[in-house]
Amino acid sequence: MRRIAVVPGSFDPVTLGHLDVIERAAGLFDELHVLVVHNPGKTALLPIAQRVSLLERAIHEGGLPGNIKVSSWSMGLLVDYCIDVGASVLVKGIRSQIDVAYETPMAIINRNLAAVETIFMLPDPANAHVSSSLVRQVAALGGDVSPYVPAVVAEFLERSTA
Ligand code: PNS
Repeated sequence: MRRIAVVPGSFDPVTLGHLDVIERAAGLFDELHVLVVHNPGKTALLPIAQRVSLLERAIHEGGLPGNIKVSSWSMGLLVDYCIDVGASVLVKGIRSQIDVAYETPMAIINRNLAAVETIFMLPDPANAHVSSSLVRQVAALGGDVSPYVPAVVAEFLERSTA
């Protein structure tokens, strides 16, 4: 049986912290779906299609494994996507106790809804302070985001905020 997992998130935009978790998760599963999901609780910077494109290019340019697919989902529950593609595991990166508190209820609900398990992965400590929201803020105010995001994202944000 193929082991299939999903890494869901807003990825607005993808950061080096995301890429680290994606790369290590890809080593644990036969197939890894990186899924861009609209989060109604957040004000988005980039359209979903742009986030997908930046993720695809970052994964390609970063030389990440070939078992990673990037998709988006806006048709309903996250677990419905998991059922569609035969995934039984969600992978989430956890930087702090705040992330644990945010992710735990969703993990329990997703398990109750469809027996989809959630695995929490710790980021490389070098990326533990990196978040998409801080990247958006630094970029909007003209700061250098290149230490926190893949080159393709840094170039894109530099062009779009110039
Ligand atoms: O990167 P984010 O914004 O923290 O990702 C949150 C996301 C998109 C993974 C979360 O909002 C989500 O799972 N949305 C899908 C809607 C859903 O299935 N909700 C019910 C189960 S919690």
